[in-house]
Amino acid sequence: MASPGNGRADGLVIALDGPSGAGKSTVTKLLAGRLGYLQIDTGAMYRAVACLLQQAGIDPDDTEAVERFCRDVDIRLEQADGVLRVFANGQDVTDLIRTPEMSQLTSRIATLGPVREAMLQSQRRMGARGGVVLEGRDIGTVVFPDADVKFFLSASAEERGRRRYLELVAKGEQVTLEDTVRAVISRDRQDSQRDLAPLRMAGDAIAVDSSGRSIQEVLDIMLTVCRKTITQRELSQ
Ligand code: DC
Repeated sequence: MASPGNGRADGLVIALDGPSGAGKSTVTKLLAGRLGYLQIDTGAMYRAVACLLQQAGIDPDDTEAVERFCRDVDIRLEQADGVLRVFANGQDVTDLIRTPEMSQLTSRIATLGPVREAMLQSQRRMGARGGVVLEGRDIGTVVFPDADVKFFLSASAEERGRRRYLELVAKGEQVTLEDTVRAVISRDRQDSQRDLAPLRMAGDAIAVDSSGRSIQEVLDIMLTVCRKTITQRELSQ
């Protein structure tokens, strides 16, 4: 774990990992808001890469083309009026990256070494000074193994599928509950069985199960841990 005096001038590095649909994005946004920290949605970054690869017509199996593409890919996150906007090589892709099709493609391209390396470097730069909540799959294990606080947020696949289904229906997508639960399970499998940086809980992460808990309850658990860590850090400085 990071010690005080780790060079993070602006606050803690908080890692929030877990499978899709566990509530990470909502909790990350609220947690970052309450602490006055920056929210870094690393899943959105992988989604933005998938979107660009698709637009460029690059086959994910074409290793050389993917490597070339990753050499100067530029993904940026900007918060405006409470909305996180995602820019991929300057293009606003916020609304393009959330379709079920893009979710499946993202899970696939997130297995590729050059893509992970490019995102790793970019995420480390973004979080280097601290004062950040990063949500993803490998933040506590690979991106910031010395994060000051690590959470692993989970929920049953059925509950996560149901939440995702309601989100998609609210956006007007034509999906069924059964297909959405199946897609969640398939992404879990792909994300946790890949060779590079698979989804897995860090040994020193705090497990939080959001099944049957309200967002407020989950947020309270996390805020208590973070505030305690901030106080300890201040006392030892
Ligand atoms: O959190 P999300 O559903 O937006 O993530 C989209 C995909 O990106 C998901 O299938 C896993 C992958 N991902 C990853 O491999 N590593 C991360 N740090 C974040 C997301």
